[in-house]
Amino acid sequence: MFSECDLVLIIDEKGRKYIFRLKKGGKFSSHLGTIEHNDLIGKEEGSMAKSQLGSEFLIFKPLYKDYIVKMPRGAQVIYPKDVATILLWADIFPGARVVEAGTGSGALTIALLRAIGTTGMLFSYEIREDFYKKAMKNIEEFMSLPNNLILKNKDIYEGIDEDIVDRVVLDLPEPWHVIPLLENSLKNGGIFLALLPTTIQVMNLVDSLEASRRFYPIEVFETMLRYWNVRGQSVRPEHFMVGHTAFIVIARKVAGNPSLFPRSMEHWKIGF
Ligand SMILES: C[S@@+](CC[C@H](N)C(=O)[O-])C[C@H]1O[C@@H](n2cnc3c(N)ncnc32)[C@H](O)[C@@H]1O
Repeated sequence: MFSECDLVLIIDEKGRKYIFRLKKGGKFSSHLGTIEHNDLIGKEEGSMAKSQLGSEFLIFKPLYKDYIVKMPRGAQVIYPKDVATILLWADIFPGARVVEAGTGSGALTIALLRAIGTTGMLFSYEIREDFYKKAMKNIEEFMSLPNNLILKNKDIYEGIDEDIVDRVVLDLPEPWHVIPLLENSLKNGGIFLALLPTTIQVMNLVDSLEASRRFYPIEVFETMLRYWNVRGQSVRPEHFMVGHTAFIVIARKVAGNPSLFPRSMEHWKIGF
């Protein structure tokens, strides 16, 4: 049942989505009419609501992926398909100690917090004070600020304060500056992951990871998500899709020098 102060996702007959917080006496308005918040309070998730113009809307609690694409942004927010991939490939597990940078709008931060659970610790660095404050608000709006999140208004290139973390997840322009800092902060066997929009950045990062001789294997890939149209006889991919968001570079920290091993992409030959 919806209560006052709950976040609501409302979907109109064209599939347009809106998110707002329920307030006694509040109103939601679109060109399809107005709905009183009081009429939604007490309703069950998944039920219908009608505007005064007679248009029907479906009401749900917003999912994470609904929320992050609608939340106020400072920095470019990450796409849900990339978040999903990061959580699995970086093997973010309940109880993990994770360093993240930059926090940006806090979209990836929320996903990391949900994956590490209450027993994990997340240390998230953001260089810009305005983004740091916005991220804090966005996280609080979705899940209330947990005490296992340490948000820092700090340049990660100047140093990582934490020792022996399990994972380092970066979404910032020059992640190669962080590699020398991982000597003490990332544990051996730990995972380093960076999200990068351009090939030049990927090249610099892979060169730096290889030069450090502390990371193996190094994998680079991107994910594509293509929706399908399934209506009657028309079963085909949608005409439009998001073509490119970012590349993911991922590597494991080794205790020794991995130069005797084959180069990064050889794993394709020995199975996935
Ligand atoms: C693409 S955004 C990150 C978006 C974020 N992943 C999200 O889901 O909302 C990149 C962020 O990195 C921050 N940044 C850039 N360099 C940084 C540094 N050296 N230390 C910390 N944050 C940095 C930027 O200010 C920006 O907010």
